[in-house]
Amino acid sequence: MHVKSVNLETVCGITSTLPKNNKMEIAFAGKSNVGKSSLINALMNRKAYARTSAQPGKTQTINFYNINDELYFVDLPGYGYAKVSEALKEKWGKMIEKYLKTSKQLKIVFLLVDIRHDPSENDRNMYEWIVYQGYQPIIIATKLDKINRSQIEKQMKAIRKGLNAGASAIIIPFSSLSKQGRDEIWELIESVITK
Ligand code: GTP
Ligand code: MG
Repeated sequence: MHVKSVNLETVCGITSTLPKNNKMEIAFAGKSNVGKSSLINALMNRKAYARTSAQPGKTQTINFYNINDELYFVDLPGYGYAKVSEALKEKWGKMIEKYLKTSKQLKIVFLLVDIRHDPSENDRNMYEWIVYQGYQPIIIATKLDKINRSQIEKQMKAIRKGLNAGASAIIIPFSSLSKQGRDEIWELIESVITK
């Protein structure tokens, strides 16, 4: 898809009402700092439209990016961010859950994990929970540029195993630096939205 326009249309905090959009939504979940906002920028061909940071906990709201007036990218706050209180963590968790549970327009859920690390218990719970909600999460293994080519296969296997994802689960390695994986992710999005 040629991205002609992007617009951060809705920003939802813990007390906001979620929008009732009438276009398809594609959500990006994953732990803090894994690269959700960076992936969204890469897909939008924008350098820094979605705010990113080396410090975890940058995105603290659910952000709806309107793409070409055709679909939305939904940037979710990361989970597992240590610096906030348990109470706030819980509120964020509830907000993310509520969105994933109630959205009528959600078509794809991407779950991002860092290609360098085995998935955490939080990642596994999130994967399981997304499946429980009736979605087949697409796994994105981020920060591909940070490992040697020879390590890729081994890490992909570890991620599949660590998330208890079946043989048919799709895992796409991606780097927001080299943009490797971006075309494959767009192809997947297009195959779903043109159905
Ligand atoms: P939160 O909003 O805190 O949940 O984080 P996020 O998942 O949106 O991560 P974000 O996109 O802000 O990226 C976090 C940090 O990782 C930033 O310093 C990015 O530049 C870096 N980063 C993201 N993707 C990649 C990647 O593919 N390769 C490398 N080397 N760094 C990356
Ligand atoms: Mg972010």
